Amino acid sequence: MTSPQFMSQRVSLSTVRDMTSRGEKITMLTAYDATFAALLDQSGVDVILVGDSLGNVIQGRSTTLPVTVGDMAYHTACVARGASNKLIVVDMPALSYNTGSQAADNARQLLAAGGQMVKLEGAGPVVEIIEFLTERGVAVCGHLGLTPQSVHKLGGFKVQGRQTDAAEQLLADAVAIERAGADMLILECVPTALGQSVSNELSIPVVGIGAGPHCDGQVLVLYDALGLGSGHSARFVRNFCADGLDVRSGIEGFVAAVRDGSYPAKEHCYE
Ligand code: KIV
Repeated sequence: MTSPQFMSQRVSLSTVRDMTSRGEKITMLTAYDATFAALLDQSGVDVILVGDSLGNVIQGRSTTLPVTVGDMAYHTACVARGASNKLIVVDMPALSYNTGSQAADNARQLLAAGGQMVKLEGAGPVVEIIEFLTERGVAVCGHLGLTPQSVHKLGGFKVQGRQTDAAEQLLADAVAIERAGADMLILECVPTALGQSVSNELSIPVVGIGAGPHCDGQVLVLYDALGLGSGHSARFVRNFCADGLDVRSGIEGFVAAVRDGSYPAKEHCYE
């Protein structure tokens, strides 16, 4: 008997890897519930991220730090019930991956809830944890640049890698993460030139958020892309529902703009 996963058309890591080798841009949006996940599932978006940004947009917190593995597992299960065609990437929350065995236990819960890949922020000791997970067959996405779980250490939500030494360190970290076996990297809030160097240097897909147009794909928090954010929005945010567009059209607008290279435009990028 053929097992169901061999018959499914779900976007997989090989799909996104092939897209990158063909020079096609990857599109990723966040979702936290079944309704939005189903909308994304029916759209042209390639990857759904169950981000720990749910701490901000669902729970109303000012940082992602209080989000728990239980919160992530709950929202991943909701998303997985709504979406069966997309690659589902799930954030491991802050301080849930301090040792290999803690990371494996927590990743297991997130994969059991319906994720296919887990995302870990940072480098340094995290590179070893990424290696621990990937050697055990877990698909891992790295996250460099502005890593919101380290917001207090970074001194706020600030553009990263502007100084030469910081840019060199970030590039070295990205290479180390790829060597540790990660299959994707999110790069957040860095100058366009650094986004380009990292994307050129790595063979795995590099998906940017405020990292310029040269990344292999773009990701946004869904609520930002739909213009639902309250308060200050980061420079890289574009409201795809401006002009009164409905949610489905806004999502397709994001996909089209990433694919045709009109998003991110210069006004969404950092120097
Ligand atoms: O948590 C999240 O939504 C993220 C994106 C901002 C990349 O990590």
